[in-house]
Amino acid sequence: MTSLGSDGRSDSPAHRIDTSKPHPARMYDYFLGGKDHYEVDQAAAEEFMRRAPEVREGVLANRRFMRRAVEHVVAEGGIRQILDIGTGLPTEPNVHQIARAVAPDTRVVYVDNDPIVSTHSMALLDEPDTAVVLADLRDPRAILDHPEVRRLIDFDQPLALLLVAVVHFVSDTEDPDGILATLRDALPAGSYLVLSHATGDVHEDHREDAAAVYDKASATMNLRPHARVLDLFGDFSLIEPGLVRVTDWRPEEPPRPDAPLIGMYGGVGRKES
Ligand SMILES: C[S@@+](CC[C@H](N)C(=O)[O-])C[C@H]1O[C@@H](n2cnc3c(N)ncnc32)[C@H](O)[C@@H]1O
Repeated sequence: MTSLGSDGRSDSPAHRIDTSKPHPARMYDYFLGGKDHYEVDQAAAEEFMRRAPEVREGVLANRRFMRRAVEHVVAEGGIRQILDIGTGLPTEPNVHQIARAVAPDTRVVYVDNDPIVSTHSMALLDEPDTAVVLADLRDPRAILDHPEVRRLIDFDQPLALLLVAVVHFVSDTEDPDGILATLRDALPAGSYLVLSHATGDVHEDHREDAAAVYDKASATMNLRPHARVLDLFGDFSLIEPGLVRVTDWRPEEPPRPDAPLIGMYGGVGRKES
């Protein structure tokens, strides 16, 4: 496994880790009960939890959605190569572990723009046929052309593109539709897009207030309504049950009666032609 900067040269990202403001990856790690965060991230995450107490259940539900979706595309869709953009800090089971439990020959490229993610991933994910790339979703061409992506991903064969809990960190002025179109266009027929996205539809009363915690972080959170998230799939066909709350996407068991509603949509689209 290798870690390279978006220019394709060897990189040593550790020196670029910014601990002066909260970072989404490290806040997410705190929500998940991990250890890879700083005080500034913990304080922001706790503030978010005060405003949106369901967030911890939400991130766990999002991870479970990701696991079910990856299992589906590998087991049912025959996918053997995965491009996971907005990877987050390593959290077991990681995408390659989920996929390889079904098909051991699955290749995975992890992409994140947070240097701490690539540093930790490099240390923890020392696996063959797995790469970690430091690059930004807002520059999709740099991701698609990256030598490590090209080494492990064959764009003539179907692949799964994972954008799980990341597009909401791209604001409307940064052209999420254009970014998604570039990525979708690069995929051959038979490929899948696995996407989840935060929304204010479910908790209109407090979600904007909670999302505002990210205004002081390295990336803002952009809640989007169902129709806008649906747009991100372009002409891909959504497999059943469509774009739904992550907890409702092919759940393994019925929801607990006291489970909070989760403000995160998830869906899996397939490129038919
Ligand atoms: C909420 S975490 C999601 C992690 C994982 N996909 C999951 O759902 O469990 C969002 C991740 O996206 C990364 N991220 C945010 N903006 C990004 C961007 N513009 N390009 C690449 N990664 C980004 C963050 O650093 C963080 O690791």
